[in-house]
Amino acid sequence: MNGTTTTPPVLRLDGVSHTYSGQRRRTTVLKDIDYAFERGTFYTVLGPSGSGKTTLLSLASGLDTPTRGTVSFDGRALTELGLGRYRNRHAATIFQQYNLLTYMTALQNVTCAMEITGAKPATGRRRTRALELLEQLGLDRTTATRNVLRLSGGQQQRVAIARALACDVDILFADEPTGNLDEDTAQGIIDTFRDLAHEQGKCVVVVTHSQQLATQSDRVLTLRKGRLTEQANT
Ligand SMILES: Nc1ncnc2c1ncn2[C@@H]1O[C@H](COP(=O)(O)OP(=O)(O)OP(=O)(O)O)[C@@H](O)[C@H]1O
Ligand SMILES: [Mg+2]
Repeated sequence: MNGTTTTPPVLRLDGVSHTYSGQRRRTTVLKDIDYAFERGTFYTVLGPSGSGKTTLLSLASGLDTPTRGTVSFDGRALTELGLGRYRNRHAATIFQQYNLLTYMTALQNVTCAMEITGAKPATGRRRTRALELLEQLGLDRTTATRNVLRLSGGQQQRVAIARALACDVDILFADEPTGNLDEDTAQGIIDTFRDLAHEQGKCVVVVTHSQQLATQSDRVLTLRKGRLTEQANT
């Protein structure tokens, strides 16, 4: 399918390398990565701890720029499009450490992100949509209106997921999004990711250590020794 498509891939990495410079030494984490991500596809990225998965997401989501190479959205380099604009309008990230605003409630975290990114629900108010999303993720109204620091790790993780889902973007990145969840809740999240890709045409890229998650994705990528490879999906 990739060979016949004429539209550019939604996200493309061309010759992407990344080196962190410390005071004494430099660490090259990613080496010359080329990959094209398509809409309507659910990807997982596997790899040992420290292999550069979070680094890869931070470059692909426009939080950082690669030392070498280009990241493009819909055929335009992010540096040309503007990293801020890309992050606001086209990409949402569920961070490994959640990155919630700790002085706010769960609900405020979600509505605030919708305001910043200009996300407008198809029907109703932002608050209604945010409550609906939180409810779908198993957080009732009482929990939704509690300060996020008063929620469990798994509940905070679900607030981070709701916040990303509330921003209607083309690409959803998630860094270990089910790490703190029980099996049933995790399965619900995996189903949501698959629906987003297959029914809403989003590109979903999820970093994980979970085989349960990887086996349910369309394409499984592995990051090892700085190189990204794709597993043959049977
Ligand atoms: N800001 C930074 N400055 C210097 N080195 C960094 C920085 N961030 C990450 N690294 C190093 O880059 C390598 C890759 O880190 P990264 O966080 O991308 O790995 P990861 O695959 O996400 O690991 P994990 O599975 O544990 O989350 C590690 O060796 C890490 O120590
Ligand atoms: Mg990581």
